[in-house]
Amino acid sequence: MDRIRIVGGRRLEGTIPISGAKNATLPLMIASLLTKDTLILDNVPRLADVSLLQRILGNHGVDIMVGGKRPGGKLDDGQTLHISAANIVDTTAPYELVSKMRASFWVLAPLLARIGEARVSMPGGCAIGTRPVDLLIMAMQRLGAQIEIDGGYVVARAPRGLKGAEIVFPKVTVGGTHTAIMAATLADGSTLIENAAREPEIADVALCLNKMGARISGAGTRRIVVDGVGKLSGARHAVLPDRIETGTYAMAVAMAGGDVFLQNTRADLLQAALDVLTRTGAAVTPTNQGIRIARNGADLRPVDVTTAPFPEFPTDLQAQLMALMTRARGTSQIVETIFENRFMHVQELARLGARIQLHGERATIEGVERLTGAPVMATDLRASVSLVIAALAAEGETLVNRVYHLDRGFERLEEKLGRCGAAIERLSG
Ligand code: EPZ
Repeated sequence: MDRIRIVGGRRLEGTIPISGAKNATLPLMIASLLTKDTLILDNVPRLADVSLLQRILGNHGVDIMVGGKRPGGKLDDGQTLHISAANIVDTTAPYELVSKMRASFWVLAPLLARIGEARVSMPGGCAIGTRPVDLLIMAMQRLGAQIEIDGGYVVARAPRGLKGAEIVFPKVTVGGTHTAIMAATLADGSTLIENAAREPEIADVALCLNKMGARISGAGTRRIVVDGVGKLSGARHAVLPDRIETGTYAMAVAMAGGDVFLQNTRADLLQAALDVLTRTGAAVTPTNQGIRIARNGADLRPVDVTTAPFPEFPTDLQAQLMALMTRARGTSQIVETIFENRFMHVQELARLGARIQLHGERATIEGVERLTGAPVMATDLRASVSLVIAALAAEGETLVNRVYHLDRGFERLEEKLGRCGAAIERLSG
């Protein structure tokens, strides 16, 4: 099992290219099931979750061709996938695959919409919480699907197709919004989705679906209308930049000190996080090619932040901010309102010398003068990168174990940080 070794104390200088968004790539790949034509996706990040979803789609009979190297092409350009779901031969998504990557549960929607049946394993919980899918099932039922739970599988049928309906989500759910939109694109009639998630990835997927012939309006707002059409066609779409990767590296620079340009990304994707970073004392300068982040000697100031759905501060940057605040001059408060167990990184940060108290959903971080390197263990995707951020400012050597969590969501992390001067290397085995 690979580990990552970091020796702290180095400033970061240079440029970090931001990859395509994991949380747009996954639903975009799943959307390919809605048409028999080929969907071409550009700027796809090279991530373990993308490879796993290729396997899952392959199990349904989907052919995926990965574009080869092109003259003048660079690793930083991302990869191009040609995805063809011309013949769906199996409408079952098995437990052994779905349990590895929750978002694969979302295949329920396009299989129902296009084929009229699906048998998808319940994803089960994960490190950060129980992660129920009751609202995704509710949305499918509102569209006319008959659903039963049998042996841990959601068995869904819509023999006469799906019918447009009004879907009101009692709480904001990204997966619920993605699945409601995808299913509604081929439903008979119009669907209204109320209290929809407003994350940028929702609008990116809707943009691609509209290129495929869907008729979606309001994506990115609380109220989305989808007018069903008879079928969807192929299209070509470039995945939008990853706002969580952007925010992660911005916090790494603020932690280590230095001056780095985050290339091929957009400030509007994570404005709330950038505003928090400015409050900590980092200099944040958006340009039309990306975002410049600098901190040269200024103290880190404490902040109070509560996570919430977009456009507020994202839960997927909570662990990274907590790592940064371990070195602030003062006491910070972070409240996690989205997931019930997303403080798994606290114990590991404490091993590096951080002082963090937990009271339910509230974490109180008392800034310390110094962190000291130690062996630590990653527990989930974003918790693992918070340990890397802390290690960049810790004295001595830190070994981050179980880096397969990192590889799920951060493409070539050690290369991107190493190119900016970090003392970081991957130890195989
Ligand atoms: C998406 O997960 C993201 N994953 C998560 O990123 C992200 O943390 C989350 O949205 C919140 O922004 C992808 O996009 C692939 P939700 P999702 O449905 O859709 C509850 C990462 O690190 N809920 O918005 O599963 C749920 O328990 C991952 O990249 C229900 O109660 O999240 C949570 O408390 C981690 N019933 C809240 O809603 C349901 O049927 C928000 O979850 C569905 C959700």
